[in-house]
Amino acid sequence: MAEIATGTSVEDDEQPLGFGVVGLGMGKHHCRSVTAAKGARLVAICDVRRELADKVAAEYGCKAYYDFDEMLLDPEIDVVNIALPTGMHADAGIKAAQAGKHIICEKPLDVNLHKADALIAAAHEHHVKLGGIFQRRLHPVSKKIRETIRSGRLGRIYYADIHLYWWRAQSYYDGGWPAGWHGTWALDGGGSVMNQGVHSVDFIQWAVSPVKRIMARTGTFAHNIECEDVGMALVEFENGAIGNIVCTTAAYPGYSNDFHVFGEHGSIIVRNDSEVVSWRIKGPNEQAEDEEMRRTYPGGRGTPSSDPMAVGLTGTPRKSRTWSTPSATTGSPSSPAKRPATPSKSSWRSRSRRRLASG
Ligand SMILES: NC(=O)c1ccc[n+]([C@@H]2O[C@H](COP(=O)([O-])OP(=O)(O)OC[C@H]3O[C@@H](n4cnc5c(N)ncnc54)[C@H](O)[C@@H]3O)[C@@H](O)[C@H]2O)c1
Repeated sequence: MAEIATGTSVEDDEQPLGFGVVGLGMGKHHCRSVTAAKGARLVAICDVRRELADKVAAEYGCKAYYDFDEMLLDPEIDVVNIALPTGMHADAGIKAAQAGKHIICEKPLDVNLHKADALIAAAHEHHVKLGGIFQRRLHPVSKKIRETIRSGRLGRIYYADIHLYWWRAQSYYDGGWPAGWHGTWALDGGGSVMNQGVHSVDFIQWAVSPVKRIMARTGTFAHNIECEDVGMALVEFENGAIGNIVCTTAAYPGYSNDFHVFGEHGSIIVRNDSEVVSWRIKGPNEQAEDEEMRRTYPGGRGTPSSDPMAVGLTGTPRKSRTWSTPSATTGSPSSPAKRPATPSKSSWRSRSRRRLASG
């Protein structure tokens, strides 16, 4: 058996699922992940920049498309990975759903709730699976924190925060394709909170509690962009705790991304998504557990604090060959629908391909 997505098993002797990746910035990471995953085969890539598409296709020995609509006609593709500028996600995803392809969509699902909801509705309507890339949920320490809070080991939660102090040079905002899309309302949907902070904003709601109310301030200081490069919110969580979220790309030269949670029975502090700085829960094992957690989760995975491409390939340790998707399946990232009972791999085949197979 091999895992194709969290909680989903496929038979080794079955034909691998075919993937097509569109958008070759972060999409290049998707190519590497798909290639490294058991049960998956990179069939094609697509980018409007022909030279780039040809180069990546040659590197992976797959087909190159320059037009997304054409790639969607490829019957060998079961799953489409969307790594286009954010404001193009829902339009592309809806087309993929209409073509009967399952969808792995980069974060955030789109630039506003209306478009994200339309994408989720299309996935439901066309009976395809939709997964948003929220890789922080897959770090083992993230799951451990969530379990610890949910089990009540920290008791009543008083306070939680995210402090993401990163740096992006102006060249990052001037670059990308179409050039200059990062930091625009239309294609990025926001700045340091919406783009860089989105994993942490997702994580704190998922691990600690949904949010009841916020009061926020944003500013643009270090960059020539439409949206914020410093954003902060005072947060009241549904579980009664209070906290704050600060996400900036104006902290030269780029520092850490820290998470703190303080409760009745103790505190947890994590740096850069995966490094346990402190794990102190009152009781006879307090010191031993703290040492064990810091030893087990020492961090050192690299951080995109100043380099957007410095993200790991998987949420699990690099030695793992398992390819995983976030837990959100045809659900919004903040309230994922329940994953269906482990489907057989054939249920992952694109509808168009199943139609072909059945004549
Ligand atoms: N999960 C993460 O940690 C992570 C990290 C970085 C970026 N992202 C997300 O990845 C997405 C892409 O961001 P990026 O920084 O890689 O952008 P980018 O500008 O570097 O890459 C976008 C690519 O899409 C291509 N493209 C644009 N329009 C196209 C079209 N109509 N058809 C085909 N190709 C087209 C461009 O040529 C370019 O190669 C964004 O949604 C971003 O939020 C996620």
